[in-house]
Amino acid sequence: MYQSQKLAIKYLVVAFALFGVMIAAGLLTAAYYLQPRLLFNTLDFSTAKILHINTLVVWNLMGFFGAVYWFLPQEVEREVVGIRLANVMFWVFCAAFLTVAAVFAVVQTGPSAESTLWLINQGRKYVEAPRWAALGILAIVAVFMFNIIATAVKARRLSGVLGVLIVDLVPLFVLYLDAFPSETNMAKDMYWWWWLVHLWVEGTWEVLIACIMAWTLMRLLNTSRRIVETWLYIDIGLVMGSGILGLGHHYYWIGTPKYWFALGGFFSALEPLPLIGMVVHAIYDAGVHRMHCSNRPALYWMFAEAFGNFFGAGVFGFMMTLPQINLFTHGTQWTASHGHFAWWGAYVCGLISIFYVVLAEARGARQIDGPLWKWSFALLNLGIIGMAGGLLIAGMAQTFHERALGGSTLQSFITAQASSWFVEGMWMRMAFGVMFAIGYVLLVVDLVRVGRMASVVELRIPEVGA
Ligand code: HEM
Ligand code: HEM
Ligand SMILES: [Fe+2]
Repeated sequence: MYQSQKLAIKYLVVAFALFGVMIAAGLLTAAYYLQPRLLFNTLDFSTAKILHINTLVVWNLMGFFGAVYWFLPQEVEREVVGIRLANVMFWVFCAAFLTVAAVFAVVQTGPSAESTLWLINQGRKYVEAPRWAALGILAIVAVFMFNIIATAVKARRLSGVLGVLIVDLVPLFVLYLDAFPSETNMAKDMYWWWWLVHLWVEGTWEVLIACIMAWTLMRLLNTSRRIVETWLYIDIGLVMGSGILGLGHHYYWIGTPKYWFALGGFFSALEPLPLIGMVVHAIYDAGVHRMHCSNRPALYWMFAEAFGNFFGAGVFGFMMTLPQINLFTHGTQWTASHGHFAWWGAYVCGLISIFYVVLAEARGARQIDGPLWKWSFALLNLGIIGMAGGLLIAGMAQTFHERALGGSTLQSFITAQASSWFVEGMWMRMAFGVMFAIGYVLLVVDLVRVGRMASVVELRIPEVGA
């Protein structure tokens, strides 16, 4: 095994541990909706939510790093350049995360001064990490980019997938520079913040996961390089074509010019297209191979990725992307419903699939199956669908009572929160959240056991890219 692949496993293990921390923080965040005085003045809703969503971003990034460090040496048939530095950066990443999480949980807030931005919290949703840590993340991503580019140069090999990955990392890195707010005008600040959030999840991250999934597909289903690369190029063209101006769907109500209604509405309505392409691709592959695969959990998680991405991002995003509808749904639990379902489909399912592939290869397992992964697959997917459903019901109640009937006043906000549909939606989210958490525990048990237990049968792993 290459050193890079050992590092990959470290990244993936930490990523999946943080996935658990994220779920715990998510359950806590959900509990305040049912018990508003919970931990009052000790650990408030806002802090729990910060822990939940920042852990999400960090563990996803760690998962991507792990996946790339696993596949890269196989792709170029040599060790990754600068692997020592990469190892150091892994520990820096872990230490920075722990410090920031401790500061969020214990210190929580600071005076309205520059020092707070540097040491405690930068106050921008999803990227709240204080400046010192944000600088650290920049350094970590820079080293990651260096490792990949230097490896490709040294190996004198640049496949289509690797080329796309390298090109994609540049905007991914540059956009993160936007995590350092200096703007005091709220409208301008939101304007730029969306460049980071939207163009990460609906642009650069999509391309990154598409590259990783391309490598996974070649290993899992023996899909030819020609097919995955062709789809990759089509996907990128569509994602970039629709995703960049799709940014406009966040510019409706923040004080930007009116032309964003038309631009945002039109281009974001096109965004589901690349996601449909992905589903078509998955079905095509399943048909060709009649679902024959020695790593069934990885295969099923890959399908979950394609369908989850399509429904969560494509359908649930499309539902509220036109300005005429978004006027009523904006910033309600409807948004959170889409946020959970989309993120799940677009990124988490893919990362689970990849981890199964990596563990099977690392442990030399020829056949991966058994009842446990099916239980976790069912509980996690039902859990997220149920959560998205509960949030959608709560969001509809808000849309109706707060926006359509109440005209968006503070009083109508309170009335909507008291509506029985809203309250029941919150209970439903909690119940399915618990189901989701049980699914996670089973997933971890299964991942620990993959390739080690008696359920493993001898079979062949397909040749890469044949
Ligand atoms: C047990 C599971 C989970 C529970 C109970 C949970 C709960 C929550 C809660 C209560 C919020 C705050 C929403 C608000 O501000 O009102 C939230 C936000 C969020 N969560 Fe989760 N979550 C869970 C799992 C996940 C997973 C698996 C993902 C990603 C795949 C995720 C992604 C997000 C995102 C993106 C937000 C911000 C959404 C927004 O504010 O619109 N969560 N979650
Ligand atoms: C690639 C996967 C996607 C992910 C992970 C994702 C995630 C999210 C998240 C987390 C939010 C909440 C942001 C916040 O206010 O904190 C959001 C908002 C939004 N998303 Fe997506 N999204 C994806 C794709 C899409 C697509 C394809 C569309 C449209 C077709 C879309 C339309 C929207 C809209 C309109 C909002 C704003 C909702 C509001 O006004 O409150 N998203 N998305
Ligand atoms: Fe967006």
